[in-house]
Amino acid sequence: MSRRLWSAAGALGGLARLGTRSSGIRDADGVQRLYDRLAGVYDRLAAPYDLIDGRRLQRQAIDALGLQPGDTVVDLGTGTGWNLPHLADRVGSDGRVIGVDLSERMLDRARRRVEEAAHSGVEFVHADLRTYVPPADTTAVIAAFALEMVPDHDEAIRRLVEHLAPGVRIASVGLREPAGWPEWAVRLGSLLNRPFGVTPAYRDIAPWTSIRQHLSDATITTSHAGAVYLAEGTTPGRKPT
Ligand SMILES: C[S@@+](CC[C@H](N)C(=O)[O-])C[C@H]1O[C@@H](n2cnc3c(N)ncnc32)[C@H](O)[C@@H]1O
Repeated sequence: MSRRLWSAAGALGGLARLGTRSSGIRDADGVQRLYDRLAGVYDRLAAPYDLIDGRRLQRQAIDALGLQPGDTVVDLGTGTGWNLPHLADRVGSDGRVIGVDLSERMLDRARRRVEEAAHSGVEFVHADLRTYVPPADTTAVIAAFALEMVPDHDEAIRRLVEHLAPGVRIASVGLREPAGWPEWAVRLGSLLNRPFGVTPAYRDIAPWTSIRQHLSDATITTSHAGAVYLAEGTTPGRKPT
C-alpha cells in the first residue's frame, strides 16, 4: 500500500475514534458524527468488498423478505441506500420503501442514489433505529451492516417486534467475529473495518442471538469463512388473513 493510502487509512482511523466511549463503543452521537463524516467516501471505501462478493448474503436477505408488489418495507441503518433500489424494484410503484438512519449526510447520499435509479415511493427518515416506530402496515424489515453497531440490539429488536404485526419478515446481515479464526486474523479483520467504526470492542455484539430469541422460524447463515452472517425470521403470532 502506498504511503498516501496508509496516511488516508490513518486519518480515517482517527475519525473512527472520535465519539467513542471509554468502553470503545460509540454512542448514537458518535455514530452520527462518524457517518456524517464518512458519507462522501463511504461507497468508495465499501467498493473493495464487492471484489470478494461481500454483499452476497445481503442480496440473499432481500430475496428472503419475500416482497410482493404493494408491500411496505423498512431498511434500518440504510446508510447510502444500497438496499433501496433493490427493495423498490420488488414492491413496485404501489409499494413503500422507508430508509431509516441516524446520519443526515448518509441519507443525502441515499436520496441521490434513489433519484439516479429513478425510483418513486422511497421515503427517508432521520431517526435512531432503537426508537423508530415502523408503520402499522409494514410487511418486512431489513438491516444491513447496521445492528452490529447497536449494543442494545436486543431491546431494539424486542421493541420492533412489539410494534409489528404477526408474520412480518425481518432480516439482518452483517459482520461477525468468526469462530475458530486465530486472534491475529480477527484483529486484522477488525483493523480493515476500522474506517467504518469497527473495533475489537464490538466483538460481543451479536444481533443474530436476538433474532433467534424474538422471532419465529429463525435461521442463521454465514459466508466468508464465518465473517458475515444473515439472520432472518418472522414476527410471532398468527398472520392476519
Ligand atoms: C456500515 S453502514 C451500512 C449502510 C448500509 N446499510 C449498507 O449496507 O451499505 C451503517 C449505517 O447504520 C447507521 N446506524 C448505526 N446505528 C444506527 C442507529 N442506532 N440508528 C439508525 N442508524 C444507525 C449508520 O449511520 C450507518 O449509516
